[in-house]
Parts: sequence; structure tokens; C-alpha cells
Amino acid sequence: MSDKKKILVNTGGGDAPGLNAVIRSATLAALQRGWEVVGVKHGYRGLLEPNGLIALDRDAVRGIAHLGGTILGTANRGDPFHFPTAVAGQAKPIAVDRSAELVERVKSEGFDAFIAIGGDGSLSIARKLLEHGFVRVIGVPKTIDNDVAGTDVTFGFDTAVQIATEAIDRLHTTTEAHERVMVVEVMGRHAGWIAATAGLAGGADAILIPEIPFRIERIAEKILQRERRGRRFSIVVAAEGANAIGGDVSVKSEGDEFRRVPILGGVAERVAAELARLTGKETRSLVLGHLQRGGHPSSMDRVLALRFGTAAVAAIADGDESGVVAMRDGDVKLVPFGETTGTRTVPLDAGIVRSARQLGIAFGDEAESHFATS
Ligand code: F6P
Repeated sequence: MSDKKKILVNTGGGDAPGLNAVIRSATLAALQRGWEVVGVKHGYRGLLEPNGLIALDRDAVRGIAHLGGTILGTANRGDPFHFPTAVAGQAKPIAVDRSAELVERVKSEGFDAFIAIGGDGSLSIARKLLEHGFVRVIGVPKTIDNDVAGTDVTFGFDTAVQIATEAIDRLHTTTEAHERVMVVEVMGRHAGWIAATAGLAGGADAILIPEIPFRIERIAEKILQRERRGRRFSIVVAAEGANAIGGDVSVKSEGDEFRRVPILGGVAERVAAELARLTGKETRSLVLGHLQRGGHPSSMDRVLALRFGTAAVAAIADGDESGVVAMRDGDVKLVPFGETTGTRTVPLDAGIVRSARQLGIAFGDEAESHFATS
């Protein structure tokens, strides 16, 4: 049997800075071995479309490592097991299981392996395809949320934290000038990594994360404590998934049958309104949103992404297992799919949380007298 392989690469789910660096590094590492590399456009959708595949040669991946987005495109709604399909005369698409067709195409075109660069959703589709006779899959975890279980870090996170930190820095000057309270909402879904890290780096006065349900009164007390100390402005960083004790997560829209996860958003506005009521101060809120996913990946994310790409190719060359490449204690390893399922949330005793508390940053779970009496 020849060692020459033919591999597919796709990017699925929400984009994250660093996707192009993985595409480039996987392609170059594979070409160097004499393999053939083909990209799938828009998640898995390209495999169900006649023109959905694109040859990846040196020219195709030239000068892309520093670019955000993905040259392959991505999709949140292309699950081949539940594929949205238009039907004449019907306003809404219906779900059709096209997984068998997809598996058949990959096999009949002679592909040996599939590199799936994606988050929870895309990796679980890859895993399900494996149960249906798909070729070997090497998953590459990505998300700015940094919440994939089984890997110490995901690329995109460092860039998102830098963008959020810079935003907090900029907000400091205008917030202080107007002696206001500013509530900044950052992404992260059900994990508070971006909020806790950027909040700590940017010198926030309070950080709200999903892992620590808050009492809004404690945050108001922190703001009033600052007033007593002559600091007449405050910055609150809220993760989009944060919620008050006994309250609900703020949901912007519930999603639909093709994208079953709700879109979170609105917590900053709610918190700002409550803080205005409790402190009597003028408050403003803003949502950083997709700015956190746009633009060039940081050098740290690029390096991580480049390492993941070469590790995925090395895994295909070195063995016959499917799995996910993951960062473990500074080394990239291939781990079983099962180890990367589930959400990696911020531990309550995480170093960033402990440091923040020692700096007097409020999380909203403090005892009643904590900020009120000093
Ligand atoms: O998972 C990445 C992420 O950016 C989350 O932080 C956010 O909740 C979600 O994706 C937003 O999704 P969309 O790009 O579909 O609005």
C-alpha cells in the first residue's frame, strides 16, 4: 500500500482567528509528505454540492496564516444528518438526512482521512459520521470561548481576550471622564474565560461569569465603595452567559431546528439598568459581539493553530486512530473524541479568579458586608 494519502479539511461552526493558520499548516505538512489536500467549503455542506470542494495546493494557502475568517467558509446550519433542504411550495426548509450520500462521496473519491476543524457541534458531527463508516477523522478544536474539554487552550481565545482588553482600556478613559458605570458584554457562551481573563487584564471593577451566579446588590455595593474612595466611575465586564442567582441567562434568540443552540445576549443592558437603579449613577452598556472574532489572530493563536495543523497531519501519518488534537501541558497530543466533549468552564478556584478577588474585583457572590462597610 502506498503512503501517499488524499485528505480533506473543513472548518465548521463559528469562526475563530487562527482557522486559516490551521488550513495552511495542515496543507503544507501534508504536501511535504507528497499527499493531496482538498478543502470542503462551508463546513460539511461542500461535500453535498457539486462545486463544494477546492484543491489546496501551495498557492491556495499562500499568505493566509495571519488572516482572520476562513478561506473555506464555515456554517452553523449544515449538519448532514439534519440537512436544511428547500422544498418547492414550502416557505421553510425541511430536514433531510444526507449523511449516507456524504460518506459515500468521500469514500468513492478515494479520501483516506478528514481533518475537521471545529467546535462542539462540528466535532460531534464528525464523531457521528465515524459511526456511519466514515474515513478516519482528526478533529482540531477551535473556539474563542476556550471552553473545549480535554485541551488546555483553543486558538482564537488569546485574540478575543486582546480585543476585549483593548476595548476595556478604551472604555476606561471615557467612563472616567463622565463618572459613569460602564457594563461591557463579552462572548463566551456558558464559560467565563474571556470575561475573567480580559476583566483581570483590563482592570475591571467587577466581573460577571456564568460559573459564579451574582447578586446585583454586591456589584452596586462595590461601585458605591469606589465612590466613597473617590473613584467615581466603574467598569463591569459581563460574560454573555452570566446570570443573577435565581435568574435566567439572557437569550437574544432561541435558534431553530437547524441550529439548536440559543444565541445569548442582553445581560449587559439588564445589569446596567439594575445598577443605575441601585446606585443612582448614570450607566451605559455595550456588547463587543463579533468584533471579538474578527481580524488577525494574535501570534500566540497563530502558533497554536500552526501546531494543531501539523499535529493533525502527523497523527494521520503515524497511526490509524481517529481523535482530536489537544494541548496538554505544553504538548500537542492526539486524544480520544470522548475526552473533548462537554464544556470546560472556569473552575471556581482558577488562578485568574483568585487573583482577581485579591485585587478587590467583585464577582457578585461576596458576603453582604464585603464592599458595603469599607
Ligand atoms: O462559540 C463562539 C461564539 O462566538 C460564542 O461566544 C457566541 O455565543 C456565539 O459563538 C455566537 O454565535 P453566532 O456567530 O452564530 O452569532
